[in-house]
Amino acid sequence: MTFEKPLSTELKTAIDKAVQLLKQGDVIGLPTETVYGLAAVISNEDAIRKIFSTKNRPFFDPLIVHVSSIEQAKTLVHEWPESANILAEAFWPGPLTMVLPKNHLVSDLITSGLETVGLRYPKHSIAREIIKNLGEPVAAPSANKFGKTSPSKADHVRTEFDNSVFTVDGGPCEVGIESSIIKIIETQDTIEITVLRAGSIVTDEIKSALASKTNKRIVFHQPGTNIEAPGQVKHHYMPTIPVLFITESKWKNLNTNFKDINNQLSTNYKNPICLNLDSSPELAARELYSKLRECSLSDHDLIVFVHTHLQVGEYWTAILDRLRRASTHSI
Ligand code: TXA
Ligand code: MG
Repeated sequence: MTFEKPLSTELKTAIDKAVQLLKQGDVIGLPTETVYGLAAVISNEDAIRKIFSTKNRPFFDPLIVHVSSIEQAKTLVHEWPESANILAEAFWPGPLTMVLPKNHLVSDLITSGLETVGLRYPKHSIAREIIKNLGEPVAAPSANKFGKTSPSKADHVRTEFDNSVFTVDGGPCEVGIESSIIKIIETQDTIEITVLRAGSIVTDEIKSALASKTNKRIVFHQPGTNIEAPGQVKHHYMPTIPVLFITESKWKNLNTNFKDINNQLSTNYKNPICLNLDSSPELAARELYSKLRECSLSDHDLIVFVHTHLQVGEYWTAILDRLRRASTHSI
């Protein structure tokens, strides 16, 4: 949950410790409203390398830089276009990452050699407090091993890295899936937006925020129809046991006899478990990663996700995208 109450002494102590560790060049578990991040200061390349080594993340996958104000974001870019200002005013702090041309303060290590940087101003008050007290931005990917399920609770991070990463407990993440990522290319008369990763802030909201504040022509590339973020590899978000992504109609035909599924997949699963998500996408997203982890901890050998005709709309698209990438089998 987003923490808007006064911070307890215990939390203040944890925040101070996190800031101290970051200053020393360590990585920490950072609560955000989307998922927990594995954070390091952007000015220390050794600290940034620790992010990659802790996660086993390949260096070709760039990191998002997190700030604690719009002013701080402006210091990291080559130029701050009108569209970035409009969208920052509309959605920051919040789960929108904007990819913009970077300047020299952002190292090639962070951007994997790209000339652009992903910028995000998180809403979670503990993340903001840590970055503000630190006095500089942090780079933070999701705090999971590369390709695995993202963490939405502090304990997920602790378990993922065998208690080796100090993690501030900011409670369960309010959104539960990673931020929407858009790339912005703005010229004198056109704003071109490409959605690189779908998230809880959907294209209609972005379009109407822009349309109400600019006279420039807006060109929108929908999710999935264009290049995606380099880290959006086919297999991602995977729990420790296999996932079957199956459509409702196929499930109805096959589930009376699980043998048929095994036959179709040429597998021999014996103890499947169904992943049941709430019908509201907001609640489904919030519980998604916890449920995937819980299913894996049980003695089941397969997680079955049945995609129903009611799971439509862009918020569901964002959730289904994670589930497709998390799955080993798809029918
Ligand atoms: O909600 C979030 O965005 C979370 C929290 C911790 O803030 N962070 C997160 O980071 O999801 P990560 O590294 O797990 O995913 C970031 C994605 C990757 O797929 C990466 O390839 C892409 O963003 N990305 C980062 N910088 C980029 C850039 N300059 N151009 C295109 N894609 C970029
Ligand atoms: Mg990630």
